[in-house]
Amino acid sequence: MNTTKYHCALEHLKEHQYCWLITGVAGFIGSNLLQALLKLNQKVIGLDNFSTGYTYNLEQVREQVGEQLWRKFKFMEGDICRLDDCRQACFKVDYVLHQAALGSVPRSIESPILTNESNISGFLNMLVASRDAPVKRFVYAASSSTYGDHPDLPKVESMIGRPLSPYAVTKYVNELYADVFYSCYGVESIGLRYFNVFGPRQDPNGAYAAVIPQWIAALIKGQSLQINGDGETSRDFCYIENVVQVNILSALANDVKAVNQVYNVALNERTSLNQLYEMIRALLVKRFPHLENHKPRYVAFREGDVRHSQADISKAIRLLGYAPTHRIDEGLKQALDWYTAHVSA
Ligand SMILES: NC(=O)c1ccc[n+]([C@@H]2O[C@H](COP(=O)([O-])OP(=O)(O)OC[C@H]3O[C@@H](n4cnc5c(N)ncnc54)[C@H](O)[C@@H]3O)[C@@H](O)[C@H]2O)c1
Repeated sequence: MNTTKYHCALEHLKEHQYCWLITGVAGFIGSNLLQALLKLNQKVIGLDNFSTGYTYNLEQVREQVGEQLWRKFKFMEGDICRLDDCRQACFKVDYVLHQAALGSVPRSIESPILTNESNISGFLNMLVASRDAPVKRFVYAASSSTYGDHPDLPKVESMIGRPLSPYAVTKYVNELYADVFYSCYGVESIGLRYFNVFGPRQDPNGAYAAVIPQWIAALIKGQSLQINGDGETSRDFCYIENVVQVNILSALANDVKAVNQVYNVALNERTSLNQLYEMIRALLVKRFPHLENHKPRYVAFREGDVRHSQADISKAIRLLGYAPTHRIDEGLKQALDWYTAHVSA
């Protein structure tokens, strides 16, 4: 892939210092964005209420970047459901990378009101605060769940179906609000429909953990592991480095055609759960011989899950210059190094 545009963006950031706001900074994606931006010598404000994020994610970033760069970061404990917190966080900010939300389809089915508060009311507060600051651009985490029951593969941005969960509704409403904030108030935004992101610091614990960290942790600990359905459900798993890249490209994109759009963020590859299990087991068995004869347990399909997911990423390639650098196997190797260092057997 041609990484020229990303290279130019990184060079630009070496010469220009901006102020970035990352919401959800103590979470998986937010803390990785923080690490990348601090390493690029940028000033960063971070907002989080620790509902699913952790101070130890921030501590790890501090260790990674060192004290000098860490001083460019200002953390604000606050809630996007409070407009005042959003306004305070947006003060003098150039670019917003809005990641704060309650993730997980099953959580939204259990707690639709809670999900709605952070994902819709909180999102709207962030848009209002960004409009009034005003910021240069509002880049936000959208979701592949917006494709709902649309049968076509690979998924193309313009063809969506009916949402299959409250979470999917909230992420679609985000796109509608972002669009209307451009037509009514001129707020520039870019929505990034992430497809199953994975990498260091993704939480392996809890009922709503994503499949990759959950499985890695279970295998390291020698615990049993469940596959929902027959294991032929497939996803377009996307390593975090690709997500960091597309966020930076989105913030800095200066082609007018690229702005006020939504983009798929993945690889345009499909991996079944059975294949994923085998890839992770094969990588881990070298370090954990007890996995030689490990077998997964198959349970019922999960409510609200789509059967297959695969992204057409040509729009992001064309308009943003997106050039993913990590395929799933490369990403898994890097993620496994991190999990073996941080999850005890
Ligand atoms: N991880 C994925 O595969 C994936 C896929 C599609 C979309 N997304 C979206 O990407 C974003 C980041 O996801 P993640 O995987 O890093 O999740 P995460 O749970 O690790 O991070 C979310 C962060 O937002 C914070 N947060 C939640 N509600 C908040 C509120 N009301 N006020 C302030 N902070 C709040 C949490 O404490 C947490 O630190 C979310 O918007 C999610 O919906 C993620």
